[in-house]
Amino acid sequence: MCVKRWQVDCQAGFKFVWFYVDFNLKISNFASVAGHFLSSMKRKMKKLMLLVFSLLLLGVSCKKPATKQQVYHPTPYKIKIPFGFPGKLNIPADNPMTVEGVNLGRFLFYDGRLSGRIVPDSMMSCSTCHLQRRSFEAGIDNARFPGGIVRGIRGKRTHHVMLPMINLVWNFNGYGWNGFLYPGNPDPNMRSLEDMVRIAVTSPVELAGDTTQVKNLFQSIPGYPELFNKAFGSKTVTFKNIEKAIAQFVRTLISANSKFDRYMKGSVQLSQSELHGYVLFTTENGADCFHCHGGYGNPLFTTNLFYNNALDSVFTDPADHFAITGNPVDHGAYKAPTLRNVELTGPYMRDGRFKTLEQVIDFYSSGLHNSRYVNPLMHHINDGGVRLTPIEKKDLLSFIKTLRDDSFLTNPAFSRPDKFPDGK
Ligand code: HEC
Ligand code: HEC
Repeated sequence: MCVKRWQVDCQAGFKFVWFYVDFNLKISNFASVAGHFLSSMKRKMKKLMLLVFSLLLLGVSCKKPATKQQVYHPTPYKIKIPFGFPGKLNIPADNPMTVEGVNLGRFLFYDGRLSGRIVPDSMMSCSTCHLQRRSFEAGIDNARFPGGIVRGIRGKRTHHVMLPMINLVWNFNGYGWNGFLYPGNPDPNMRSLEDMVRIAVTSPVELAGDTTQVKNLFQSIPGYPELFNKAFGSKTVTFKNIEKAIAQFVRTLISANSKFDRYMKGSVQLSQSELHGYVLFTTENGADCFHCHGGYGNPLFTTNLFYNNALDSVFTDPADHFAITGNPVDHGAYKAPTLRNVELTGPYMRDGRFKTLEQVIDFYSSGLHNSRYVNPLMHHINDGGVRLTPIEKKDLLSFIKTLRDDSFLTNPAFSRPDKFPDGK
């Protein structure tokens, strides 16, 4: 639009100068006929000066809109806080959410060229592993990654199994199973979702890409530079802006419409079994899950904190929370993942040791392993677990399944775009 306006201004300017020259030449013809040769010479000089002056003016008026071209007006993207959710959002001051940024981020999230390569076999994007219909995990039924064990572009396994991408805009306590990215990290490049984008693109067990190559590739794909301009005010693609756009998109992935959410709003009723499961979930003498996984008053269904939940008694993983904090209480501690949509995100635990939720519940019921590092919130450790009856196990499971949010899993705003900006 600015370029168009610039053309119009220039055309008008040229027309004006042309009219001026034409008009003055006519007058000067008349003057010379009248024999005022000398004075006309003087006037001609004056006119020449005026002409130069007006050309200068024209130059200025053509340049002005060119600076306007750099001014961009992205539309703020407002996150509506769902019923019962915390009001505080983790959005960095230097990456405000905009409609244009989110739109670009969605393209990049799904575009296999994010690996910096264009041969079909070597293309990979975030969506290769993070599938919407599996709550942005790979899923245990994944055709490409049997058992949900994901591998990067070079065929190497990731250290842990996947984590979902749900409601991450409310997470201030660190990303990753062991929380390796967290706001106060002394390393400024290891703090945010923006950093996660760089890590996923460059990690040898993920996209194994090169940031310069990726940036150059997107610069060359028709349509993308214009989208970067709309989102960030420059057609020059930078890797920072790639990070920012994808992080913006990831922050929009909000799940707040499960059956349980609708129950809390009073629009649906839970079954007897689901209600009983809810009571078990949120009571210490029941299943005692809520301390770490939320519930009433914490609709995220995670505290986003790290605990040793008694899966093992010997700790050898070099990538637990202890590796990050150096605090001995964090041996064998990992993030308590959200239980939203957990029905779809097997295999379970950071090493994927459980295939089904039934196995997970059996573990919490009677399979705990004691050690000096078990988190004190595992109140029933001395009994080996919370000791649920078969009916209680069934009811707890029905409650957990009320946390499935089909509108999140099918929301078109989160899904793969039909076409990429270059029409492919
Ligand atoms: C090869 C499969 C794979 C690809 C491709 C991939 N991821 Fe992941 N992602 C994972 C795994 C595995 C984890 C869990 C990592 C861990 O903590 O050990 C993860 C974790 C995450 C998390 C942390 C979630 C949380 O709750 O802490 C975010 C955010 C994320 N990925 C974003 C991305 C983005 C953005 C891309 C694309 C640039 C991407 N991922 C590409 C496998 C993948
Ligand atoms: C002391 C905190 C704590 C308590 C109490 C707790 N959990 Fe967990 N939960 C965790 C942690 C930490 C993990 C991840 C552990 C790992 O992978 O090493 C986890 C993992 C899970 C997972 C697997 C999630 C996934 O995506 O892989 C499920 C399901 C689960 N818990 C359900 C429950 C249920 C049901 C209860 C109550 C019976 C419960 N938890 C009680 C901390 C806790």
